[in-house]
Amino acid sequence: KKRVLVVTGGGDCPGLNAVIRAIVKRASQEKDWEVVGSIQSFNGVLKEPEEIVILDKKAVAGIHFRGGTIIGTTNKGGPFAWPVKKGDGTWTTEDRSDKMIEKLKELGIEAVISIGGDGSQKISYELYKKGLNIVGVPKTIDNDLFSTDYTFGFQTAVQIATESVDKLVTTAASHNRVLIMEVMGRDAGWIALHSSVGGGADVCIIPEIPYDPVKIVKRLKERFDNGKGFALIVVAEGAKRVGGEVYSRKSNEAGYENPMLGGVAYKLADELKKAGCEEDIRVTVLGHLQRGGTPVAFDRVLATEFGVKAFELVLNKEYGKMVSVKNSTITSVPIEEAISNYKFVGKNSYLVHTGRSV
Ligand code: F6P
Repeated sequence: KKRVLVVTGGGDCPGLNAVIRAIVKRASQEKDWEVVGSIQSFNGVLKEPEEIVILDKKAVAGIHFRGGTIIGTTNKGGPFAWPVKKGDGTWTTEDRSDKMIEKLKELGIEAVISIGGDGSQKISYELYKKGLNIVGVPKTIDNDLFSTDYTFGFQTAVQIATESVDKLVTTAASHNRVLIMEVMGRDAGWIALHSSVGGGADVCIIPEIPYDPVKIVKRLKERFDNGKGFALIVVAEGAKRVGGEVYSRKSNEAGYENPMLGGVAYKLADELKKAGCEEDIRVTVLGHLQRGGTPVAFDRVLATEFGVKAFELVLNKEYGKMVSVKNSTITSVPIEEAISNYKFVGKNSYLVHTGRSV
């Protein structure tokens, strides 16, 4: 039988299991194909001995509504940065991509389906250029992948964030407070914008539009002066102040990315106080709650459509392509195009104009 290898890379995302299940179900309609999965992205192939599992209909039964990924994921290691211990006990990384492609041949892998965000798609493209038969499936709760209108996981994250706004509003109103809620979105503010509009937040701060604490305080004052006894601010983790730097996830002194997600909301609270906010402020960082748990129906359906399409790209030998949805139609685009940019919230987005600009 011909083998297709499935990998899930980068941060997990509700709907990953639904993609895996759809690939297996579609492949099972073809007599001469079987599906296998590499544990923790490509690391399962690179490890000695390999960690490869058979993904048959039994293995994927009933996983469509389970969060996470049954084959695990990681953003560490991988074919181009495999960790190697040096003689002096310190670590370095090595390019093992050629070795991995050889190993895939030995394992009888005809093609690879790589489900992942921009980082994983960049790896896929490099492997494709080296001759690997690979197709991509876009994945991120942030919805910022270029060349696709939506990624699965986004609607689930928005639902969780919107329900959180609903909850914070009642406690904010009881105490006459300003509540700041921080959501994910390192480069783009889609989750912040959609949950703000869905939950009726008063101020929404996204990475695409630098914020000015003085203007926000003015807006809050107007609201309290008008008798609205509370306010809700949603801020995306990648937000930055006018003329300032991105605060979340900056490198620490040792040069590593700060593993602590979030923090911009606390900084914003300080800045608002310094800019004259007289109200009580409280901060909530939603963090990984936005990525956990069961996918909403929209994400299950989109993930299933993506999985079926990905296997069909393999069947048709349309390698180097990434599955995509455009104008409600499932299609595909060159991976090269998908990694050429991010999909940012446009300043002209009708959602940006639903409220007053600060
Ligand atoms: O890429 C999606 C994302 O949700 C980002 O918004 C966030 O910065 C990141 O994942 C956090 O992922 P992890 O904690 O797994 O590194």
